[in-house]
Amino acid sequence: MQSYELKSARYIAADCLRRFLLPGNTAVDATMGNGHDTLMLCELVGETGCVYAFDVQMQAVENTRARLMEAGMLQRARLFCCGHEHMAEHVQSPVDAVMFNLGWLPGGDKTVTTRWNTTRQAVIAALNLLRDGGLCVVCVYPGHPAGDEERKQLTELFASLRPQDFNVLHHRFINAGPGAPECFILQKQERAQKI
Ligand SMILES: C[S@@+](CC[C@H](N)C(=O)[O-])C[C@H]1O[C@@H](n2cnc3c(N)ncnc32)[C@H](O)[C@@H]1O
Repeated sequence: MQSYELKSARYIAADCLRRFLLPGNTAVDATMGNGHDTLMLCELVGETGCVYAFDVQMQAVENTRARLMEAGMLQRARLFCCGHEHMAEHVQSPVDAVMFNLGWLPGGDKTVTTRWNTTRQAVIAALNLLRDGGLCVVCVYPGHPAGDEERKQLTELFASLRPQDFNVLHHRFINAGPGAPECFILQKQERAQKI
């Protein structure tokens, strides 16, 4: 009896990072939220690795700090209460992976959601920060105006990238209705040009 089942965009994004990241690597969580993804990244990069994490909400930073402290992994992380569009000001060296989980803080203020203007700046900064062979995963949640705009614009931006610079995968259930989460997985090629 087979047990294989098609997995959600969120699952695919995390699974891809679980298979890719190694102890000692550097990763960025561009949307810290309640810290679930930051914790996963800290586990994957191990004691010798480093995770930079960003969120505009102090509540998100506090929730993440508490989660990492409880897991004994706070030393592996650098938490910034600032927009991911400023990522390049805080992360100077190339990184192995960047994760975006767009939208609003679960259980929080839905008006504090990611928006295309700043998401665009952050995604471009992230792609330029990636080392050759590095991965960027972006989960997007259509079904509300800011999410619809992000989905549309990300699709256009990523489709316009040269295949010599990035391989881009788009995961979505095409019959799931307009609000279903989607994810993009990008891998930087050798000698990719700056965007
Ligand atoms: C879906 S949640 C992230 C969930 C999180 N990764 C987790 O594991 O719990 C999206 C987060 O993006 C944050 N956000 C909104 N605008 C942002 C920006 N410009 N820069 C960084 N984070 C932002 C929100 O405050 C929210 O916490």
